[in-house]
Amino acid sequence: MPWWRGRPVCCPGDDRLKAAVIGAGTMGRGIAQVFAQSGHDVVLTDMNQEVLPSALKNIWDSLERLRKKSLIEEEPSQVLTRIRTVKQIDEIGQNDIYIEAIFEKLNAKMDLFRIIDRIAPKSSIIASNTSSISINLLSTTVKAPGRFIGMHFFNPVPVMKLVEIIKAERTEQSTVESVVAIARGLGKEPVTSKDFPGFISNRILMPILKEAMLCLQEGVSTAQEIDRTAKLGLNHPMGPLELSDFIGLDVVMDIMEVLYTEFGEERFKPPIILRNMVNSGMLGRKSGIGFYRYGEE
Ligand code: 3HC
Repeated sequence: MPWWRGRPVCCPGDDRLKAAVIGAGTMGRGIAQVFAQSGHDVVLTDMNQEVLPSALKNIWDSLERLRKKSLIEEEPSQVLTRIRTVKQIDEIGQNDIYIEAIFEKLNAKMDLFRIIDRIAPKSSIIASNTSSISINLLSTTVKAPGRFIGMHFFNPVPVMKLVEIIKAERTEQSTVESVVAIARGLGKEPVTSKDFPGFISNRILMPILKEAMLCLQEGVSTAQEIDRTAKLGLNHPMGPLELSDFIGLDVVMDIMEVLYTEFGEERFKPPIILRNMVNSGMLGRKSGIGFYRYGEE
């Protein structure tokens, strides 16, 4: 049995895990960072090789912010020595844990897990960072579903404390315990959830975001006033429209679609305003325009 099964990961530099992160977008780069920050060796890849240099730059910037506030002791360049990028999925090699963090499309994830399953050693854990797709369904792609699990991080990963851990029907208890221990070792607070659509977090969040969008769609108030209400009246760190832009409107729509399909309930149906924005390429911060404009004074 691998050493980390069922007991907490220790200190950086001690009992290092080998972690593979597949997908170097916002979430994947954040996940790679927190593993490396905690002393683990990381291999990071993405089907679009061109994003790898910007992922490393972004990780360096984030580490520098943390170092300036004395939240980490190591120099960013030192932490980065533990992150290796590879251009092809076949090159990720043998690891203790594989974490998928690609876009929210079922078939793409299923295909990827079949590849990971061919590469991964028998003792390794295979995890998905999916926001809403069924972990049970994804687990059918691997030979040993007992070591398949959901490990859902939050954006920005280096700052957000929570990791939602999702147990599928066939996930072994030892896998849950290992992933709880690994999450704690990353300095995170794990919560466990059954495999229900949206798990806990997005089942709560999506109706909030949807109602805010409907307030805007129905002309109840402006985007700024809706967000100010949530920030000043409800003490949310970001307003729901600002948060939607931050997550990515395409991602929000994908999550709502999964919840709507699975529960069949109107409360999760993506509102027209969101569909129209996504269809016209207004994806939030990453596209420069969403409910707000970015990159302008
Ligand atoms: N790396 C390192 N540090 C970072 C960082 C990063 N990527 N992003 C922010 N920080 C730090 C800043 O340096 C700052 O530290 P300080 O307070 O000690 O100076 C602190 O975090 C706050 O950042 P800012 O001052 O830049 O800005 P804010 O005060 O507005 O905070 C925020 C930014 C942490 C993103 C805050 O607005 C927030 O918590 N927003 C809500 C985020 C949220 O809800 N995330 C979950 C989204 S849902 C999700 O991810 C699930 C998925 O399935 C959809």
